[in-house]
Amino acid sequence: MLGPALLAASKTPRIRHFVTTSRVSRGLVNRFIAGNELDAAAAAVHGLVTKGLSVTIDHLGEDTTERSQAEATRDAYSTLLNRLAAEGLAPRAEVSVKLSALGQALPDDGTALALENARVICTAAQQAGTTVTLDMEDHTTVDSTLSILRELRADFPWVGAVVQSSLFRTEGDVRDLAHPGSRVRLVKGAYAEPRTVAHAKKADVDAAYKRSLAVLFAGGAYPMVASHDQAMIDEANRLAAQYDRCSSDYELQMLYGIRTSEQERQVAEGRQMRIYLPYGQDWYGYFMRRLAERPANVGFFLRSLVSN
Ligand code: FDA
Repeated sequence: MLGPALLAASKTPRIRHFVTTSRVSRGLVNRFIAGNELDAAAAAVHGLVTKGLSVTIDHLGEDTTERSQAEATRDAYSTLLNRLAAEGLAPRAEVSVKLSALGQALPDDGTALALENARVICTAAQQAGTTVTLDMEDHTTVDSTLSILRELRADFPWVGAVVQSSLFRTEGDVRDLAHPGSRVRLVKGAYAEPRTVAHAKKADVDAAYKRSLAVLFAGGAYPMVASHDQAMIDEANRLAAQYDRCSSDYELQMLYGIRTSEQERQVAEGRQMRIYLPYGQDWYGYFMRRLAERPANVGFFLRSLVSN
């Protein structure tokens, strides 16, 4: 139960101040985040691509409450995409976008503003020769995110969706999304959700993940299997064999800094592995979710605090 408690505590200004100003945070932050600036991200992308991995890059930021900030994030993505094209990294490197960083939560016209900003990013991605995937945030954003996805796909059919097996609604959403040409990233879900909308037990989240995976493979979608859990990875590879999918017909995905030897092992066995690579100054929310996912990470962090 440490994870949900930590995620709840992470919302308080005191904890945020403590973690973001603590000198010892930086060591652990560096494990999960490529750096503050685009140069650091570009260097990390080159390193991963050289090892045969693909990448999806997240310019960190979320829960934007100002229009100007949303526009700055949109422009940062355009700069990033131009850089990927200039350095010959597209299409091995695409981008992942959080709609809440593009203004989705702004009162009145948040969904329209996020759609408008996302369109600009998709246009830049198309020109660069790569793709965009829309990250999924907490359950209150799912309807808005899926409606923006539908609008974007009318012009950019390659836009990727993300669905979370922890949510009760997801198996229905997966059935709608499981058609040929539909790029769908399946994750377990990183947000603390109420029991009214989400499975509370890990075993139920895992079973739902496997059911959704089967629907994606059976329906002819392009599954993006995002998990570090060996049981989920093995199940995806088993389904690929069952449905006669070759290695270009689906991909595995993991987060930067987690299970790196398994990332390389899957590539060595001939499979596609894409790494989710975050960079930027607004690392707090992303970092706290990574801590919360694994009690050992929290223990490591607390021990570093005590020993410094
Ligand atoms: P699980 O949590 O069961 O972990 C399995 C094993 O993986 C652990 O036993 C441990 O060995 C290792 N592991 C997992 N997390 C770790 C960590 N933080 N540190 C160290 N080891 C760890 N979520 C979301 O809500 N919206 C999104 O858009 C995305 N996008 C996304 C993209 C990609 C490429 C990935 C891999 C994940 C996401 N996620 C996400 C996060 C996802 O929902 C989930 O929280 C994490 O992937 C952890 O779940 P696992 O499937 O890895 O299994």
